[in-house]
Amino acid sequence: MNFDDTIKLLIVDDEASIRRLIEKEIGSERRIVTGVETLAAARTVMEKQQFDVVILDIRLPDGNGMDVLVELQETAPEIQVIVITGHGDVDNAVQAMKTGAYDYITKPFDLQRLEMIVEKASQRCRLHRENRMLRQASMENPPTRIIGSSPALDRVRYLIGKVAPTETPVLLTGESGTGKTMIARLIHELSARKDRPLITKNCGTLQKDLMRSELFGHRKGAFTGASEANEGLLAFAGNGTLFLDEIGELSLEVQSGLLRVIENKTYRGIGEKQERHVNIRFIFATSRDLHKEVRTGNFSEALYHRLNVFAVHLPPLREHKEDIPLLVETFLTRAGGEGRRVRISDRAMQCLMAYDWPGNVREINNVLERSMILAEGDLITEAALPLELVHKAPAAKGSDSFQSLEQIERQHILTVLNYTNGCRTRAAEILGIGRKTLYRKLQSKQ
Ligand SMILES: Nc1ncnc2c1ncn2[C@@H]1O[C@H](COP(=O)(O)OP(=O)(O)OP(=O)(O)O)[C@@H](O)[C@H]1O
Ligand SMILES: [Mg+2]
Repeated sequence: MNFDDTIKLLIVDDEASIRRLIEKEIGSERRIVTGVETLAAARTVMEKQQFDVVILDIRLPDGNGMDVLVELQETAPEIQVIVITGHGDVDNAVQAMKTGAYDYITKPFDLQRLEMIVEKASQRCRLHRENRMLRQASMENPPTRIIGSSPALDRVRYLIGKVAPTETPVLLTGESGTGKTMIARLIHELSARKDRPLITKNCGTLQKDLMRSELFGHRKGAFTGASEANEGLLAFAGNGTLFLDEIGELSLEVQSGLLRVIENKTYRGIGEKQERHVNIRFIFATSRDLHKEVRTGNFSEALYHRLNVFAVHLPPLREHKEDIPLLVETFLTRAGGEGRRVRISDRAMQCLMAYDWPGNVREINNVLERSMILAEGDLITEAALPLELVHKAPAAKGSDSFQSLEQIERQHILTVLNYTNGCRTRAAEILGIGRKTLYRKLQSKQ
C-alpha cells in the first residue's frame, strides 16, 4: 500500500497520443502514470499494482470502460475513477457518475482542470484507505492498556508517556511475553501519528539474502532475480510508525543502513540513484541482550548506542509479582464477559504467586484461559491449574517441609496483597510496615 505523497495513476485509453499527453503533462516525480490501451491490460496491471486514481476511457477496443468501473466499485471502491467521455456525451457521463465515478472529463482536455481533479480524487482515495484501516484496527484490537501498578510498571508507563509524543526512536527490551509488542502499539497510539499506519515487521522472518531489499526496496533489474521493482518496507511505512521486532536478527550490513536512515532520514533503494526521504517513527524490540551481541560482534556498536538513547526495559513478571492479582482479575473479568463472574480460590492464587512465570504475562493469560475451562462452577481452584504451578507453591497446611522466615514473610506479604487486590498502601497498613519497606521486601529476590 502507498502511504507517502505519491499518486499512482492509471490511464486506460486506446489513443497513444492521449496516454502520452497525460504522462507528460500530469505525470511528475510525485504522480506516477502508467498507461494501457485495453480493458484486459488494465485488469492485468491492476492485479499487480495498487493505483489511487484511474482515468478511464469508455469506448475501448475490447469493451466498455463502464464494466471496469463497476468491477472496481465492488473490489476496490477506494480507487477513484475519472471517466473520459466524448464531447456532448451526457448520457454516458450521467451513467458514470451514478455508477460511482469520481468525475468525468471530455475531450479535448482542459489539462489544468484534469490536474485538479486528479489531486482531489487521490486525496479521497487516501482518506478511504485510512478510514478502512482504522476501522479494521479498532475491530481487531481493543484499546491498549498496561495492567499493573507496581513501581516497575509505573516506571514503564511514565517513560512511555514521555517518549510517545516525540519522534525519538525507542528500543524495547525484555523477555518473551513481557509486553514489548503491546507497548509498541501503545507508543504509536499515544503519538501524533496515531491516525497513520503502524507497520510491524519481525526481523526474524526476513529472508537473510533479501533483507536489504525487503527493507529498502530495489530497482527493477538491480540484481539477479529482481525482475520487478520493489518498494520496500520503508516506503510502505511512509509517514507512519515502523516497529521492527527482533532487531537483533538483522545482518550487520542492514544494521548500518538502518542507522543511516535514523540519522539522516534518507536512504537509497538497491540500484537506485536518487536518495529517498523518509518520515518514519521507529520502534525496535529485542529479547536478546544487545550489549552482549555488540561484544561478540553480532550487533553494530554504533546502532546500539543510537538505539540506547531511549531504551525501555520491560521487567519479567517474577520481578513484579504484586501485579498478579490485578492481572488475574482483569483477565477473568474480560474473558468471563457479561454474565459470568469467575473467581479464584485463595490457594490457587497462592500457586500463581509462587510460580516464576518464564513466559511472563502471556503465560499467565494462557494459564487463566485454560483454568476458566476447568473451573468448578465459577471458582478456579488448585485443581484447575497446571501441575507445575501447584508443585511450585509452598505446601498447604500439614506438610512437614519447613520454609525459611524470609520465604514465609514474602508469602504472607503476597497473600495480603492478594487480599487487598494489589493495593500496596492498604497491604502495608495491614502488615504494619511502611510502603517503602514493602517495596524493598517485594523486590528482594525470592
Ligand atoms: N502489563 C501488561 N498489561 C496487560 N497486558 C499485558 C501486559 N504485558 C503483557 N501483556 C499481554 O501479554 C501478551 C504478550 O505480550 P506481548 O506480545 O506484547 O509480549 P512480547 O514481549 O512482545 O513477547 P515476544 O517477545 O514473544 O514477542 C499480550 O496479549 C499482551 O497484551
Ligand atoms: Mg512481541
